[in-house]
Amino acid sequence: MTEVVDASGIAPGEVLVDARGVKVHFPIKSGLLIDRTVGHVYAVDGMDLTIRRGETYGLVGESGCGKSTFGRALLQLEELTEGSVTLGGVDLATLKGEDLRRQRRHMQMVFQDPLGSLDPRQTVEQLLLEGMQAHGLASDKKGARDRLVELLDAVGLPASALSKYPHEFSGGQRQRVGIARALSVDPELIVADEPVSALDVSVQAQVINLLQDLQEEFGLTYLVIAHDLAVVRHISDRIGVMYLGALVEEAEADDLYAMPLHPYTRALLSAIPVPDPVVEDTRERILLSGDLPSPANPPSGCRFHTRCPWAQQTRCSTERPALRQVTIEGLPGSHRVACHFAEGIASGEIQRHAVEAVLTEPTEAPEPAPHAVPGTTLLPED
Ligand SMILES: Nc1ncnc2c1ncn2[C@@H]1O[C@H](COP(=O)(O)OP(=O)(O)OP(=O)(O)O)[C@@H](O)[C@H]1O
Ligand code: SF4
Ligand SMILES: [Mg+2]
Repeated sequence: MTEVVDASGIAPGEVLVDARGVKVHFPIKSGLLIDRTVGHVYAVDGMDLTIRRGETYGLVGESGCGKSTFGRALLQLEELTEGSVTLGGVDLATLKGEDLRRQRRHMQMVFQDPLGSLDPRQTVEQLLLEGMQAHGLASDKKGARDRLVELLDAVGLPASALSKYPHEFSGGQRQRVGIARALSVDPELIVADEPVSALDVSVQAQVINLLQDLQEEFGLTYLVIAHDLAVVRHISDRIGVMYLGALVEEAEADDLYAMPLHPYTRALLSAIPVPDPVVEDTRERILLSGDLPSPANPPSGCRFHTRCPWAQQTRCSTERPALRQVTIEGLPGSHRVACHFAEGIASGEIQRHAVEAVLTEPTEAPEPAPHAVPGTTLLPED
């Protein structure tokens, strides 16, 4: 019998995380004596996202589009204004107190800034033991000590690191401590929020490779958040592109790079330098006008219409496009796009306007990284 699959092409048995219609709106307060709510920041405004067990889902988008807020909402660190999140079929919003605390063990976060997220007064041993003790995983002293050494070994740090403080490590080593801390409670899901953005380029690849090795060893599921498509390409099975609080495109990583369908994704990809100088010189870049609009006052209709080089007179400014599966010849069924005109744009029937926004003259390409994959800026291997 064929298993029923949902709109993202995933069978229910494969699903670890299922976020439906997630909204997180922050009130904007005003007034000295009496707090009045004068508006809202629509940080996350209708996210539907499913993550398979054992996969890496890359979530990308410009600064301020709501990536971190969504990651935090998944882990119930941010209260949902609307919508639901299930982990392994358990609706997290129904859990309170001790039940929620127990469930938290299964989902952990790795942060961008390891120094800021690690208590400077605690040794690595104390940092790692904290979570284990909170979840009753450190009752046997000898067993706990062995586990700490195993954890450090898994992230490539010596046992002697246990007695050190966070400031005694390099940035990359500190991120390894942060990863070991997330692993210490044996989670199923790790939300890694810009895990390599604060690190030197040479160290970024090592940390990315470590995350991949650990995924295989411990059967982890990842949501990796980044503002750079080049970083997530290397590790993601699927990628979701976010714009102003919601997904605009989602596909298997290779399909997204081979055939980006949403105008925003096309613009993001066109900004990635290509190592081949000949291709780079003739590469067409789609430049977007203006900044990301304020999430406190998002545009009507399609949120991208104020910057979209393909925007049409009808529908774009009045009707918000749903994230829908598109059927284009040669495209696998799991490619989802929130654009009214995705098919016409892909076929060339709808042409881009604003010629002045397109740059085809030679541009100065940055020096490509050694071993970089064409179309990415990544990163030397270990
Ligand atoms: N606690 C909060 N109260 C009010 N506004 C908030 C709060 N947290 C985030 N925001 C706002 O919500 C929007 C989304 O923020 P968020 O941090 O999720 O973006 P992001 O995509 O992670 O950006 P970056 O790439 O810079 O980390 C921003 O406009 C931000 O200012
Ligand atoms: S719906 Fe219109 S404005 Fe939005 S991405 Fe598609 S063409 Fe552009
Ligand atoms: Mg963020």
